[in-house]
Amino acid sequence: MDRRNFIARTSTAIGVSTFLPITGKKLFTNQKENEWESVRSEFLLTREGIQMAQFLLASHPKIVRQAIDLHRRKLDEDPSEYWHNAREENTQGVLTSAAKYLKCDPSELALTDSTTMGLAMVYSGLKLKKGDHILTSTHDHYSTEKSLEFAAKKNGAKITSINLYDNAATASVDEILSNLKSGIKDNTRIVAVTFVHSITGVKLPLAKMSAVIKAVNKTRNESDRIYFCVDCVHGFGVENITVEELGIDFLIAGTHKWLFGPRGTGIIWAKKDAWHMVDPIIPPFSIAYAMWMGTVPEGELSFFDRITPGGFHSFEHRWALKEAFDFHLELGKEKIQNRTYELNTLMKEGMLANNKIKLHTPKNTELSCGINAFEVKGMTPEEAILKLRKMDIYGSTTPYKIIYARLTPCILNTEAEVHECIKALEML
Ligand SMILES: Cc1ncc(COP(=O)(O)O)c(C=O)c1O
Repeated sequence: MDRRNFIARTSTAIGVSTFLPITGKKLFTNQKENEWESVRSEFLLTREGIQMAQFLLASHPKIVRQAIDLHRRKLDEDPSEYWHNAREENTQGVLTSAAKYLKCDPSELALTDSTTMGLAMVYSGLKLKKGDHILTSTHDHYSTEKSLEFAAKKNGAKITSINLYDNAATASVDEILSNLKSGIKDNTRIVAVTFVHSITGVKLPLAKMSAVIKAVNKTRNESDRIYFCVDCVHGFGVENITVEELGIDFLIAGTHKWLFGPRGTGIIWAKKDAWHMVDPIIPPFSIAYAMWMGTVPEGELSFFDRITPGGFHSFEHRWALKEAFDFHLELGKEKIQNRTYELNTLMKEGMLANNKIKLHTPKNTELSCGINAFEVKGMTPEEAILKLRKMDIYGSTTPYKIIYARLTPCILNTEAEVHECIKALEML
């Protein structure tokens, strides 16, 4: 048995006892590390190396795997019967847990297959007209940039892309707010940004940005107001936030990254008074279908019923999303956030102490959370990640026009693993 398998087998569960195995003796003298090791042992992630790219595509905890298996078996046994009889209950289960997580109304949520699908649904569905202005930034992911571009081609809106900060490492809240203020024009109807930039690791101060937008909206008619739309995928499952605290109008996130939800799942949340801004682009298979058939009278539809794309899906994954939210709720959102901050701050301190490393992510957790983007003197980011891989550390590079290396500790990592990464960086 190798060292990591040994750790997995001897973990002890504390605090998450309803789904964690309680076996063996404690390995760490440190109670806290022991507890997180128990969480880690819920996953089948290989222990051959140190996982520092978990945020690309999630591994599933045991309760999510079990839920997928159960729905799959029932679908395999009798797909039509299970879909007809269980879909309402299973869907409501997902929406209820997601709403509890976000502290919102379940009717404000739509289910998607990914962040990219959610961004496309919202941006392509926006009721904009020629001459309307969309303000976005240069820090966004390909999926935001392209979704906005495709939408503007159809509706004739004009897009401006601004720098919210010039230098990621030294970015400040004031700088971001001031650039946002200067970017807003009289005809701006949409501000489209990303919570945590996967290129630099910068986390935007969304609540403060919302306050700026709300102040502008106060001076306008309702028909001219600005809607604040955010790709939240890399804050979702890390930050201890509710939609009310963020103050935004649309939250779009894949749930198959930091939330450890089933692969091929995501959500859109839309504030009730913003629902009317988005038209569906894929026919929903909801009560809207029954209205079309004439079996129920026409009436008001919730955001879920209007926007969730129809067609048959990989329901064993979609319905097991409930367990991913439950897993996080049971562990505790605040605890998850604090642990993520703790490991990432440790990583950043190690990087900052190494004069061969140029860290592009701010150290302060006000402006960063789980992504650390960096360069190593004398080698390309790809070479650095390859060398780390040879040392059994699995990092990633940024899929952007500018490429950086990334190490991204999450709650499945230990302090010891972060120290190993810091040591490996020193040896590069
Ligand atoms: C900021 C950001 N948005 C969107 C995506 C795409 O997410 P998804 O795979 O859920 O479509 C990624 C990376 O995968 C990302 O980094």
